[in-house]
Amino acid sequence: MNNNTNNPSNSNTPSTASGTVASFSPGLEGVVACKTRLSHVDGAGGKLVLAGHNAITLAENNTIEEVWFLLHEGRLPNAAELHAFRNRIESLGQMPADEINLVKKLRGAEPLSAFRTALSAIANKRGYKPWLGRPAKEAIDEIMALCALAPAIVEVLHTGRRPRLKKDNAGYAERYLWGVTGKKPTKDDVRAVETYLILTMDHGLNASTFASRVAASTGADVGAAITSGIGTLSGPLHGGAPGPVLDMLDSIASPDQADAWVRAQLAGGTRLMGFGHRIYRTDDPRSMCLKRVAERQNGPRIELAKVTEQTCLNVLAEKQSQRAAAEGKAVRALRVNVEFWTAVVLEHVGIPRQLFSSTFCASRIIGWGEHIAEQIQDNKLFRPLSTYTGDMPAE
Ligand code: CMC
Repeated sequence: MNNNTNNPSNSNTPSTASGTVASFSPGLEGVVACKTRLSHVDGAGGKLVLAGHNAITLAENNTIEEVWFLLHEGRLPNAAELHAFRNRIESLGQMPADEINLVKKLRGAEPLSAFRTALSAIANKRGYKPWLGRPAKEAIDEIMALCALAPAIVEVLHTGRRPRLKKDNAGYAERYLWGVTGKKPTKDDVRAVETYLILTMDHGLNASTFASRVAASTGADVGAAITSGIGTLSGPLHGGAPGPVLDMLDSIASPDQADAWVRAQLAGGTRLMGFGHRIYRTDDPRSMCLKRVAERQNGPRIELAKVTEQTCLNVLAEKQSQRAAAEGKAVRALRVNVEFWTAVVLEHVGIPRQLFSSTFCASRIIGWGEHIAEQIQDNKLFRPLSTYTGDMPAE
């Protein structure tokens, strides 16, 4: 049936139920699809706000539990509330023996795929049902329980053992790093990981958060909604970039090779991992913050990373200017994004590169959870339109 009566110019252009003609935006670029109180990305100003606070200030001064509480409650906790929240997350984060056995069976697969399957299997085993028709609080408790399991899931998948007891640990970030490296981490390393995990916890309506909200909008169980987020995060254009950033540094090997290497990649049509962003048109503030962390770490990669960053920026700027001149358009800036310095910081604290995407997931899962809770509390099914480009029937 062709119901495009409001659009005589193009019979295949879609219209909404109310008859309004919809416009097409590839990749939904520039489309506002929901309201949120959780985070705001100011792409022109290079700022990230988390629930009313500057994300960089939070990342440099607060703990994950404080920021998680902030997203959950809309305000920072007092000391008693923080204590109770930390205990709750730690206790929810303990995985029962039957679930440990379930997760162990998934070892050997690519780590983020195994994480996705583990979380889905646990939600299924716990019998989580579609949230629609149930009190919102039940679903929100289920979200919290799944998110709190992230460090244990990564530890079991990585080590093949039950998570070891982390006595007197300082919280989520320390448990995560300890679980992955197998030894009590230094305060500096915990702080570096905590900064990273806070910076990446939530970031507007990015692709994986959108996917989680879309799944939640159908009334699906919260395990399905989080699993949608993990699947979406796995792509190299989203959360899969930091591993390839280290591969790039390995390939360049020495600062004097950077220029030739970068030019060859771009000439061959390869994108530079850790550069470009859909929203930021200036420096990604998360990247600047992580660069400061990397400079403090002062590891063996730092000089190569700095030269490579600058070389990529120079060559991309050159390429973008030539392109803009040829097309008669304004120059679109391609700046460094969060993934470039993430790779340097996470390698320095001993997280293996194959776990970089899982580490991103252990942070963003908190944002997905809060977005799913927000969606549940004010739901409208996501159901966009498509422009049909095929043939119409002959009759
Ligand atoms: N290297 C080389 N060229 C690039 C890059 C890059 N990193 N990023 C964009 N471009 C070019 C791209 O080739 C395209 O030109 P053309 O039209 O000729 O193909 C033009 O810039 C516009 O690219 P786009 O993909 O339409 O722009 P977008 O806003 O959809 O892209 C992006 C955003 C992150 C997918 C892209 O910049 C990219 O692929 N970057 C590399 C992967 C990466 O670092 N991903 C991590 C993103 S940050 C973490 C997160 O929030 O998920």
